[in-house]
Amino acid sequence: CGIVGYIGKRDVQPILLNGLSKLEYRGYDSAGIAVLERDQIKISKVEGRLANLSGQMDKHPLKGSAGIGHTRWATHGKPSDANSHPHADMSGKFTVVHNGIVENYMELKKELEQKGVMFTSETDTEVIAHLLAEQYQGDIVAAMRMVIQKLHGAFSLGVMTEHEPDKLVAVRQSSPLVIGAGQGENFIASDISAVIEHTRKVYILEDGDLAVITQDHISIMKAETGEAADRKLLQIDWSVDQVEKGQFEHFMLKEIHEQPLTLRNTMLGRINDRDEVSFPELAHAAGAFKDVDKIFIVACGTAYHAGLVGSTIIEKLTRIPVQSDIASEFRYRDPIITDRTLVIVVSQSGETADTLAALHESRRNGAKILAITNVPTSSIARDADYVIATKAGPEIAVASTKAYTAQLLAFYLFSIYLAQERQTLGKELHSELVKGLKTLPVQVEKVLENADEVKLFAESIKEAKSLFFIGRGLDYPVALEGSLKLKEISYIHSEAYAAGEMKHGTLALIEKGTPVIALATHMDLYEKTVSNIKEVKARGAHVMGITVEGNVELLNAVDEICFIPPSLQLLAPILAVVPLQLISYYASLALGNDIDKPRNLAKSVTVE
Ligand code: G6P
Repeated sequence: CGIVGYIGKRDVQPILLNGLSKLEYRGYDSAGIAVLERDQIKISKVEGRLANLSGQMDKHPLKGSAGIGHTRWATHGKPSDANSHPHADMSGKFTVVHNGIVENYMELKKELEQKGVMFTSETDTEVIAHLLAEQYQGDIVAAMRMVIQKLHGAFSLGVMTEHEPDKLVAVRQSSPLVIGAGQGENFIASDISAVIEHTRKVYILEDGDLAVITQDHISIMKAETGEAADRKLLQIDWSVDQVEKGQFEHFMLKEIHEQPLTLRNTMLGRINDRDEVSFPELAHAAGAFKDVDKIFIVACGTAYHAGLVGSTIIEKLTRIPVQSDIASEFRYRDPIITDRTLVIVVSQSGETADTLAALHESRRNGAKILAITNVPTSSIARDADYVIATKAGPEIAVASTKAYTAQLLAFYLFSIYLAQERQTLGKELHSELVKGLKTLPVQVEKVLENADEVKLFAESIKEAKSLFFIGRGLDYPVALEGSLKLKEISYIHSEAYAAGEMKHGTLALIEKGTPVIALATHMDLYEKTVSNIKEVKARGAHVMGITVEGNVELLNAVDEICFIPPSLQLLAPILAVVPLQLISYYASLALGNDIDKPRNLAKSVTVE
């Protein structure tokens, strides 16, 4: 979910709606805002996309210069008008927006109902509004602090009350929240993108913080003790156009096309004249990885797929055993961790609750933690021992593209860095790898220029009921990522299989015309993959082959072909994923889907 809040002198409605539009990627099941209109709180909220709310508010605008807003990804209570935020108490004088889950809300709700409180929604959030009304004795901060003590779970909150119209209260308890500092106006937001148009100065709240903002003042305290919390005022260096679509029809297409640039940026300053990899941000880590004898890579979704590639690369270059895990599984499976274990957590947003929890669990067990993240101010970055930032810039489309390739690049660089430290990498391979990495941005440009073939193929699969992605070696995790991309935005069912595994069951699903995307970029497994392609072809599959330029004879085994530029085999995933990103984009475009905001999903999942 996304939270925004404003207090100042300007008309609040457009500021809140615009802020929500930047946060909609966090959830879009419903949206709502509360405005203090002449000392009275008025709420407008509605199920569905933000556009529904904007339409409603065009007809019935709210006037005022303080308010809070919310865009929801439903957890407790289905998407509906009633379950939309903001929620209010019975008097309507206290209103709350919430991101996260109040785990003990059933118990609290029961107690409140016994006292005669009537609930109007099925949400966990509504209990907070009623509790505030119950605890209030003339001081909203005191009431808020009492209420927080009763709540279990992870949450961030924005609160407004008619009793103290000059204030907004913000609380962070394990879900991200920032305070934007303006001139004669201040802001609350789930992330910086929602306030960047108005101010570049932000405080990032920490867990347990409570902030009170007025037009001219921001004070941050520790909610538990009430003592002042000293938080640094950060200056943000993104530009506004990084969060605008520009000439592209969708953020996803813009982000796919930004990859040559984001790869260059991620490499910048990390390879010196002698082709050595160094990370200025790891200067304090000299020697820290020397004793590491086991690495886990832990992440969710697309970042997990980057980790699968990462584990192969690290093992190959350093011979340290590496295992990739899904964060929500890792933390509950009692992994064997010692003080010689390095846990690498990968997260675009740096806020994914499962990944953050896996980080904390690993830390408790004594592991060293390295975060690879796109948001250096995020919770994951702050809680890790070491951070490598991917320099992909803000990623807005829910389906991750440029952050994924930046994560892959970060893994290549880190693997070389580790191998340098341990002297496990031969000179020749080292220089070939570095040369190959430097060539990638231009090669990705080439793939993007030659997209006609994949575009046509993408349009041809829009009626397909199911699709398969196959590949061996590093092509297999790329197939997994391609399949996830397609599912996320086209809603076409697909599965990714290690090419050699199809014959052990899944081949039964191949019928005449079933589309199969076969990745064959691994030259030392090429013949084997071609045999597997022939196996699906013989059962009637319609095959799109993705291979390296020069392998023209693959045309004998496939129906359509897409060539990627030749590179070191280890580096091919960055090139091979680009046509797959384009296939899901163009298939979804042909289907008329909401590409940047696919149904049921959110970009940043801050609940477990
Ligand atoms: C969500 C997004 C995915 C993303 C995953 C992990 O589910 O929809 O696209 O890969 O979270 O996000 P993170 O920010 O941790 O990389």
